Amino acid sequence: MIPANLRTNLKGLSGEIAVPGDKSISHRSVMFGSIAKGKTVVTNFLLGEDCLSTIACFRKLGVSIEQEGNKVTIMGKGMDGLHEPEAILDVGNSGTTIRLMMGILAGRPFHSVLVGDESIAKRPMTRVIAPLSLFGAKIYGRKNGEFTPLSVIGGPLAGAAYELPVASAQVKSSLLFAGLQASGETVIIEPMKTRDHTERMIKQFGGEVAADGHTIRIKGGQTLTGTEIHVPGDISSAAFFLAAGAIVPNSEIKLKNVGLNPTRTGIIEVLQQMGANISIEPYENGLAEPAGDITIRTSTLKGTVIEGALIPRLIDEIPIIALLATQAEGETVIKDAEELKVKETNRIDTVVKELSKLGADITATEDGMVIKGRSSLSGGTVSSHGDHRIGMMLAVAAAISKGEVQLQQKEAISVSYPSFFEHFESLISET
Ligand code: S3P
Repeated sequence: MIPANLRTNLKGLSGEIAVPGDKSISHRSVMFGSIAKGKTVVTNFLLGEDCLSTIACFRKLGVSIEQEGNKVTIMGKGMDGLHEPEAILDVGNSGTTIRLMMGILAGRPFHSVLVGDESIAKRPMTRVIAPLSLFGAKIYGRKNGEFTPLSVIGGPLAGAAYELPVASAQVKSSLLFAGLQASGETVIIEPMKTRDHTERMIKQFGGEVAADGHTIRIKGGQTLTGTEIHVPGDISSAAFFLAAGAIVPNSEIKLKNVGLNPTRTGIIEVLQQMGANISIEPYENGLAEPAGDITIRTSTLKGTVIEGALIPRLIDEIPIIALLATQAEGETVIKDAEELKVKETNRIDTVVKELSKLGADITATEDGMVIKGRSSLSGGTVSSHGDHRIGMMLAVAAAISKGEVQLQQKEAISVSYPSFFEHFESLISET
């Protein structure tokens, strides 16, 4: 259900919610399930549009995938079980789908064409195509391979060594998929540690991958075996309610079963740094991906500096952190975050533009932004610009705004959190 107007000037949020499954892990579960041999059963799969695009692409590659609610069953026949698609593969809005799939398709003995939406058409692909070409991959695209549509002429790959110039889990993961099917060994060096869901999942499917500091090694020619994957809740979705709980007065929210992989928990550290009233109860379930419950209460926040190795651990949470900073005492500086410019939108521009409309004191910099708090937010007409995380951030901003807030392009939120507004409504205390 998408409301006509956003809820504003809320007096309190309380209750418990289980945010939907993690987007990164859901994508990877379908990809590994499709290239493994045998049955993979995924529970708590995210039914967001991005992950449904991944399912649709693998179905076009001949993989049998059944979906019943948030349970997904994949009948994998191994890498060799993928067939040349008769139609183009449409990734919709999903950068993860297109970038990771290139690493799989580059080594398959057939031709495939990848396209996406308007946002995907503006996102850089050379960062994946250039290293994959060191493996022998042949991938062509508009503007000398930088942009979609992409054409992949698959063929045999040879393992390579590559040092990533940017910290990107998508590039790393694409190279790991290529490395899995290449001859010999592949060595990947990251400038900073990024999310390691791919490495964890290779092991869950019975494969081998070794990580030592920022260096990852994988041997080619491995056969993976289908398994069971339970997807934890997405901390990047939980982040919107963590922020809402911290800044809406009289609030206490418990978020159940949130993924707590240390490569993703930067948002928790920032909230703690800002003085938030937050507590974590980790589960001891021994699963490949750690999870737990998080409780947040209305907090008195102070400004902070966010930079360096913390950035990849909270890259998707920067829009909501910017909102938090508008409600913190003093200045918050976000730097080393140039990567924001190549997300679903240029998130430095869209965050600064939209929060300024509501009266925030926020300035864009070359590699981030500077926010001065505390600002009282007013009403206005804002837009997600088709970016799900900008849309959700603005819905949370509205909750503390004094005037009416109209959000254009709200439907983008379904990319990662189709039940966002329902969950939000369920937390609103009527007093
Ligand atoms: C993702 C990695 C990140 C993140 C994206 C999902 C992934 O992108 O922003 O939402 O699932 O690997 P980069 O690796 O390009 O930074």
